[in-house]
Amino acid sequence: MKTWEELEEKCLACHGCRLCERRNNVVIGVGNRNTDIMFVGEGPGEQEDLKGEPFVGPAGNLLDKMLAAIELDRKKVYIANVVKCRPPGNRNPAEDEQRACINYLRRQYLLIRPKIVVCLGKIAASALIEPNFPITRGHGVWYEKKGCFFIATYHPSALLRDESKKYPAWEDFKKIKQKLDEVRRTDEK
Ligand code: URA
Repeated sequence: MKTWEELEEKCLACHGCRLCERRNNVVIGVGNRNTDIMFVGEGPGEQEDLKGEPFVGPAGNLLDKMLAAIELDRKKVYIANVVKCRPPGNRNPAEDEQRACINYLRRQYLLIRPKIVVCLGKIAASALIEPNFPITRGHGVWYEKKGCFFIATYHPSALLRDESKKYPAWEDFKKIKQKLDEVRRTDEK
């Protein structure tokens, strides 16, 4: 999977786990492949499965608003998920499903080489930052790995379920904006 074309071809033909059986679309990712910031969710929901694009349902509407609040939009960043096919009933993707799919996300990361990765929720943070990531304690904290900055924040669906998480999530987004300005300034030097 050295190119985007190869990656897409492999994803579209993937039968690596049971999630392929009921999918309408493989939801690979959307946005700018030359971006310096990538957002990673959990897995497609109903709308995403129907449209073939990540975060186009209610959680996506909220994500779009949060991106706009820090002067970003889905065309300027890259958005992907840990698993590319919809887990039935929007359950969490199982460990073996995540394992079967994670190389696609790794390859997306390697093709993009972003400076910042934002993990949306515990599943993405556990896959990309550390296993069993404690989202309540660990959100809003930067982790640097090989020159890339990783941060976790609450998943937009969690914000829709629990309004009290909106303020801490907004604080995280302000940190993300700050870091992005910082890495862009450093790049200009
Ligand atoms: N939730 C996710 O984690 N990803 C999507 O694409 C949509 C909802």
